[in-house]
Amino acid sequence: MQFRTFGKKVTDFHPSALGFGAMRLPLLDDVPARINEPEAIRMIRYAIDHGVNYVDTAYPYHGGQSEIVVGKALQDGYRDKVMLATKLPVSQVKVEADTERFLEEQLKKLDVDHIDFYLCHGIGKSRWETMKQTRVLDTLAKALNDGRIRHLGFSFHDDLAAFKTIVDGSDMWEFCQIQYNYMDIQRQAGTEGLRYAAGKGLGVVIMEPLLGGRLANTRPPEAIQRIWDAAPVRRTPAEWGLQWVWNQPEVSVVLSGMNTFEQVVQNVESAGRSGVGSLTPAELEVIDKVRETYRALQPIACTACNYCQPCPSGIPIPDHFARYNDAVAYNAFPMYRRGYSRMDENKKANACAVCRECLDKCPQHLEIPDLLVEVHRVLGENQDPSPLSPLS
Ligand SMILES: NC(=O)c1ccc[n+]([C@@H]2O[C@H](COP(=O)([O-])OP(=O)(O)OC[C@H]3O[C@@H](n4cnc5c(N)ncnc54)[C@H](OP(=O)(O)O)[C@@H]3O)[C@@H](O)[C@H]2O)c1
Repeated sequence: MQFRTFGKKVTDFHPSALGFGAMRLPLLDDVPARINEPEAIRMIRYAIDHGVNYVDTAYPYHGGQSEIVVGKALQDGYRDKVMLATKLPVSQVKVEADTERFLEEQLKKLDVDHIDFYLCHGIGKSRWETMKQTRVLDTLAKALNDGRIRHLGFSFHDDLAAFKTIVDGSDMWEFCQIQYNYMDIQRQAGTEGLRYAAGKGLGVVIMEPLLGGRLANTRPPEAIQRIWDAAPVRRTPAEWGLQWVWNQPEVSVVLSGMNTFEQVVQNVESAGRSGVGSLTPAELEVIDKVRETYRALQPIACTACNYCQPCPSGIPIPDHFARYNDAVAYNAFPMYRRGYSRMDENKKANACAVCRECLDKCPQHLEIPDLLVEVHRVLGENQDPSPLSPLS
């Protein structure tokens, strides 16, 4: 295992390059709340036995079961070998007393007397504002004071401007957790956000280093496979993705949500080969080409400028186009069809009333109503994508 640094505020902890993300534990009967406990515990303990010293869970993962299983995995002496991170479900904090209530419940579920790294979960611009109204940080200051939590941070989903506002919004933050991978250099916090947070001395924990598995696809589109085949080094797509993140000096620890024992073994081995600046210019060029090719494979030329919003029918048009694009580019239709099937019916693409108001607003001149028909055909009716791509 390789070990790294955790920002300038937490100097007594050297995180393992790989952290264990307990959001995608192995399941029984494919039911998210039914974790295959013996296998999950075996995986977590194997990782710890091989140097992983940071385990990340959260209140809602696996319908609330992840924290319980992580707590069990950390019995038998494992608790002392790792830093334990979990997250306050900020979206469920409605009144001031809720923060204290959740923290106490989490300590019980995890069966621990303290949490090493506690995060405000998945915050962005609007949750940051709500957090102020419910005085979340005041309550957490008390928990820091009495030792129930040791370090405070936040995990983030929004844009760069919101990220900077939140980083600068409190001097209590010691670390943050961002979505970052070779496709997201300009999305979410992006590379600028990563450097901004590190520049302020925060430890930066990385989530979704493989874009939730999309970059690990062993059967990627042909154009991508050709690039991997011509690369100067042989690596699996998963290892390419992880090594690229580890290559960045500002990254503290990379979480991967491994769901099989083999993935744990592979990622632990990859972490052993990792290092800041370890990729050669030729290897970095390979990743640049893969990124460009994935982008070129995205058929709808939507830039997510949001000018089409609000849609009179309430349809999140840019989100639909992003899902469609990713499903096509990453050849990941089942994953996106599952997500689409869970959407409210009145927000699905086929709820478009064809009022055509969006047509005047779209700077890319996209034929939005026609494209929404295509989105529903592919994601809602399980038909192959239109052969007319790229669509614009
Ligand atoms: N705070 C937040 O808002 C938030 C949000 C997201 C994640 N997180 C945390 O961050 C952690 C990491 O994010 P993530 O789970 O999205 O990470 P990720 O590494 O981007 O995605 C995990 C998926 O990648 C695939 N994978 C991993 N290792 C592989 C390997 N060696 N070979 C082939 N495929 C491999 C698996 O996909 P398959 O399932 O297809 O096999 C696995 O389910 C989570 O587990 C969670 O703890 C937090």
